[in-house]
Amino acid sequence: MADPTFSSTSPSTINQNVLTFFIGVVVLFVVRWDRGVIFNTGHVWRDLRRFTLSTLRNFGVGKKSLEEKIHEEILEVSNAIEAHKGKPFVLKKHIADGTFNIIYNLIFGQRLEYTSPRFNEFIQIFDYLFKNAGLQVPENFLPWLQYIRKNSPVQTMIKNDEILRAYVREKIQEHRETFDAENLRDFLDMYILMTQEEKSESYSEMNIFRTIVDLFTAGSETTATSLLWAFLYLTKYPEIQHQCREEIRKLTGFSRMVTMADREELPFINATILEVQRIASVAVFVAPHVAEEDITLGDFDVLKGTILMFNVNALHNDPRYWDNPEKFLPERWLTKDKKIIKHEAFLPFSWGPRSCLGEPLARMEMFLFFTNLLQRFEFINPPDEPVSLSAQLDIVKEGLITKGELVNGRPNWLFAIKKIFNKKGVFFNTGQEWKDLRRFSLSTLRNFGVGKKSLEEKIQEEVVEVSIAIEAHNGKPFVLKKHIGDGVFNVIYNIIFGQRLEYTAPRFHELIDIFDYLFKNAGIQLLENFLPWLQYVRKNSPAQILIKNDQILRGFVQEKIQEHRETFDANNLRDFVDMYILMTQEEKSESYSEMNIFRTIVDLFSAGSETTATSLLWAFLYLTKYPEIQHQCREEIRKLTDFNRMVTMADKDELPFVNATILEVQRIATVAAIGAPHVAEEDVTLGGFDVPKGTIVQFIIHTIHNDPRYWETPEKFLPERWLTKDRKIIKHDAFLPFSWGPRSCLGEPLARMEMFLFFTNLLQRFEFTDAPDEPVSLSPRMTGITYQPIKSLICAKPL
Ligand code: HEM
Repeated sequence: MADPTFSSTSPSTINQNVLTFFIGVVVLFVVRWDRGVIFNTGHVWRDLRRFTLSTLRNFGVGKKSLEEKIHEEILEVSNAIEAHKGKPFVLKKHIADGTFNIIYNLIFGQRLEYTSPRFNEFIQIFDYLFKNAGLQVPENFLPWLQYIRKNSPVQTMIKNDEILRAYVREKIQEHRETFDAENLRDFLDMYILMTQEEKSESYSEMNIFRTIVDLFTAGSETTATSLLWAFLYLTKYPEIQHQCREEIRKLTGFSRMVTMADREELPFINATILEVQRIASVAVFVAPHVAEEDITLGDFDVLKGTILMFNVNALHNDPRYWDNPEKFLPERWLTKDKKIIKHEAFLPFSWGPRSCLGEPLARMEMFLFFTNLLQRFEFINPPDEPVSLSAQLDIVKEGLITKGELVNGRPNWLFAIKKIFNKKGVFFNTGQEWKDLRRFSLSTLRNFGVGKKSLEEKIQEEVVEVSIAIEAHNGKPFVLKKHIGDGVFNVIYNIIFGQRLEYTAPRFHELIDIFDYLFKNAGIQLLENFLPWLQYVRKNSPAQILIKNDQILRGFVQEKIQEHRETFDANNLRDFVDMYILMTQEEKSESYSEMNIFRTIVDLFSAGSETTATSLLWAFLYLTKYPEIQHQCREEIRKLTDFNRMVTMADKDELPFVNATILEVQRIATVAAIGAPHVAEEDVTLGGFDVPKGTIVQFIIHTIHNDPRYWETPEKFLPERWLTKDRKIIKHDAFLPFSWGPRSCLGEPLARMEMFLFFTNLLQRFEFTDAPDEPVSLSPRMTGITYQPIKSLICAKPL
C-alpha cells in the first residue's frame, strides 16, 4: 500500500488535498514518455522548452495574427453554440473544439472545420488518450501484456499514436516542400529552420512529434476546462455575470469584438478570470515532479526518486492565505482604484523552471473567449439541473460514508501487493471474502477482550515489561520507538496466539525484523513494480527477501495453527487462532481458507502495531515539548491513583484531560496521514467529480485534521479544544483518525485501549524530557505509509 506521492502546499504541512485522483498521473506508458517536453529531463528538455517558448512567442502570442486566429475560432464556437437556440447543451465540447483548433493552427498554420473527418479523428484520438492513458492501464505493471492483449486500450493507443505520427510526418514533408525562411508560417516551419541551423538529438523528429502531442494534450483540455469553470461560475452567480457583461458593454457597446488591447480597461473581468483559476484550479495537482537528489522540503525528508505532487488546489483554497477561500469573490483581486492585486499563494500555471510554458497563450485564449462569448450570450442554468460546485469535508463524507459501499475497493497493483498480499486477508481483499473476514476479525477482537478484563491485563503486563526496558536506560537518552513498538507488537501476538514472547527471544527478534523489513521495502520504490520480470533475475533483491520472509511467516503461522488444532477445546477458546479453528468447523468457505487467515494475521500485525506505536510515540514527544501539559496529565492521574496502582480502563471517564490530550495528538500528528487507498467499484460522482470505476481514491486525513476551516489555530497543540467547561469531551465533526465508513479501521477499539493504558501508566512511572544537546523535534517524516517523527531520542526519569 505504500505510495510515495505526497502533496505539499506549504513548507511544514501536508495540506488540504482531499481526493487524489491518480488518473493519468504517472505514466503515459504508450506514448513513450521519455520524449517530448512534458516527460523529458536534462538538456533535451531544456532545448525543447526553449524552442517551444520562442516559437509560441514568434507565432503571435501577444501579436495580432494569433489574436485574429483566436477571434475566428470564437466566431465558429459562437455559431455552434447559437445552433442550440437556447436549449441545454454540453458547453465543454464546443469550447474544447475551439481551443484544440487554435493549437492546431499554431502548429500546422491553418484551422480545420469542426465537421471535417480529420478534425473529428483527432478529437477522438486525444479524447481516447485522456481517458485511457492513466495508471489504470494494466500494461503499466505487466508490460509484457502489450504483446498479448489484442485490441486492448494500449494497442488502440499505440495505433492512434502511429496515426498521429504519420500525420505529423506528412505535414513536415509538405512544409519542407513549401518552406520559405523569409515567411515562417508556423511551429513546423520554425522546426525546419531550427534543424537547418543546429543538428542535435533534441530536435530529432521523434522529439518534435512528441512535443507537438504535448502541446495538444497540455494545452487544449486545461484551457477549455478553465473556461468551462468560468461559465459555470457565472451561471451560479448571475450578478457577477451581469457585472462582467456590463463592464464589456460600456467599452464595446457590443458592437465589436473584444481585443487584447482592451485588457487594461476590464479590471473586473480580469479579476473574475483570476478568481475562477483560484477557486477551481484545473491542474489540481501540477504535473508530477521527481526529486533528482535526496533533499529536504520544509521539514520533510524527500528521498531521491520520490514523486512529488504539489497540490495547487489546496494552496488556492487555504484560509491562511485567502480570506473566505470557499467564497467566489472576484473583488478580492481588486484594489479600491481597480488595480489587480498580486496574490502570493497563486500558481495556476505552477512556478519555477517547470512551470507551464503555454501560460501567455492560455491567458490570451481565456480572456478573448470569456469576453467575446459573454457579450454574445447570457449563460443560465438548464431547467431542473442546477450547476454543482462542492466543498471538501463533504466530499470525504460522501466518499467514505454516504457512498462508502461504492468506494470500498482496494488497488491490486504494486508488486508487493499483487505478489504477496494478492487480494487475500482483510486489508487488500474486496467483495464477499473481505466482508466475511472483516466480520470475523471484528467479532474475534471483541471476544478476546477488547473492552474486557483479560485483554486489559495482557496490555498491562506489556506496559510493565516496556517500563522495565525503559528503566534500564537509567534516565539516559534512548530511542523510545523501539520499546513501545515491542510492547504493542506483543499485544497483537498475544491476541492471535494466546501468549506473549520475551523481548529477548530469538523468535521475537525474527518477527520484528521481518515486519520492519516489510514496512521499509514493500513500497513503490521496489524496482519489480515496474519491471516484474526482474523478480526472476535479481537474486537477494528486496523483492526476493520479502517473498522469503513471507514464506517464513507462513511456515510459522502454519505451525502455530497445527499446535492449536492439537490442543483445541471448543469450551475454552484461547485466542484468534482458536476462533478460526472453531469457525472452520462450523462453516466451510473460501473466505476462511488458511491463506486468507494467514494474510489476515499479517494484516493485523502490520496495520495494528506500527500505527499504534507511532501514535504513542507522538504523544510522548508532544508531552516532552509541552512539559506543562505533561504535568497537567500526570497530576490528573495522580489525583486518581496516587501513583500506587495501575490505571485501568474503568478510570477512563475520570481522566478527561488525558483523553483530550490523546485526541489532540491524534489530530495534530495524524499517523495514517493519507488514509489507505480506496478504489471506486462503480462509476460514481464525488462532490461533483466524475470518478470512473477503478479509480484509486485517497482520502487525505491529515489535511482535514489541520484545516483552519474546521479547527481554530490548527497548528497549535491544545488539548483544551476537546473539553467543554464542565470537562466533557467535545465531538468534532472533522476528526477521523481511523477513517470512516465500511472500510474504517477495524482495530479502533483495541488501539484506543492500548493508547490509553500505555499513555497513562508510563506517565505515572516516568517523567519524559529532552535528551541533552538534542531537543525533541516534532518534525514529521512522511514514509508513504505513516506520518513519523524524524527521530525519537528521549530521556525518561523514573518517578
Ligand atoms: C492508532 C492506531 C491506528 C490507526 C491511526 C489506524 C488507522 C487506520 C486507517 C486510517 C485505516 C484505513 C481505513 C480506510 O481504508 O479508510 C485502517 C485500516 C485498518 N486497520 Fe487500523 N489503525 C490503527 C490501529 C489498528 C489496530 C490496533 C489494528 C488491529 C490489530 C488495525 C487494523 C486495521 C485493519 C485490519 C484495517 C483494514 C480494514 C479494512 O480494509 O476493512 N488498526 N486503520
